[in-house]
Amino acid sequence: MIFKIYCQLLKIGKDLIFLGTDIVSILRIRGIIKKKSNSFLDRIYTQKEQNYCNAKNNSSTHYSGKFAAKEAVKKALLSSNIIQNISLKNIEILNRNDGCPFVKIKNLSINSDSILLSISHTDEFATAVSILKTK
Ligand SMILES: CC(C)(COP(=O)(O)OP(=O)(O)OC[C@H]1O[C@@H](n2cnc3c(N)ncnc32)[C@H](O)[C@@H]1OP(=O)(O)O)[C@@H](O)C(=O)NCCC(=O)NCCS
Repeated sequence: MIFKIYCQLLKIGKDLIFLGTDIVSILRIRGIIKKKSNSFLDRIYTQKEQNYCNAKNNSSTHYSGKFAAKEAVKKALLSSNIIQNISLKNIEILNRNDGCPFVKIKNLSINSDSILLSISHTDEFATAVSILKTK
């Protein structure tokens, strides 16, 4: 018999709801960007994500927000057991015209509309919460 161990699971009717969250030190991300520059950015962030962050005055704050968001989405995905692993670059965090963030999962048949995301940052920290809905 196979037992599936779920983490952060909520069942609402036929829907299964999974949660992920992360918090990131902006100082740490700023330091990595300063030290590793393009090798770090290109390993973690898509070109669209880099364009968004680079257009901001305080780009490392927005890079940190997207990093926290990627980790939060990854946690929700992994806890659902839909996938066993995913690279942070394949979790693309984009923004609508009004600024609201949304997720695109690359190279996997996961409907991005089933993932909700919220990001926030202070001077020191960036944090994100993600909710994944599956049947
Ligand atoms: C959206 C809003 C609540 C963000 O709150 P804040 O305290 O200023 O900033 P926070 O650090 O908590 O959050 C920033 C994040 O909110 C998210 N965000 C921005 N606009 C959003 C929106 N309309 N809906 C949901 N999330 C939004 C983004 O992910 C942003 O981070 P990012 O740019 O790095 O991706 C606030 O700016 C607001 O009330 N805006 C009113 C609408 C507005 O002014 N729009 C101007 C653009 S049209």
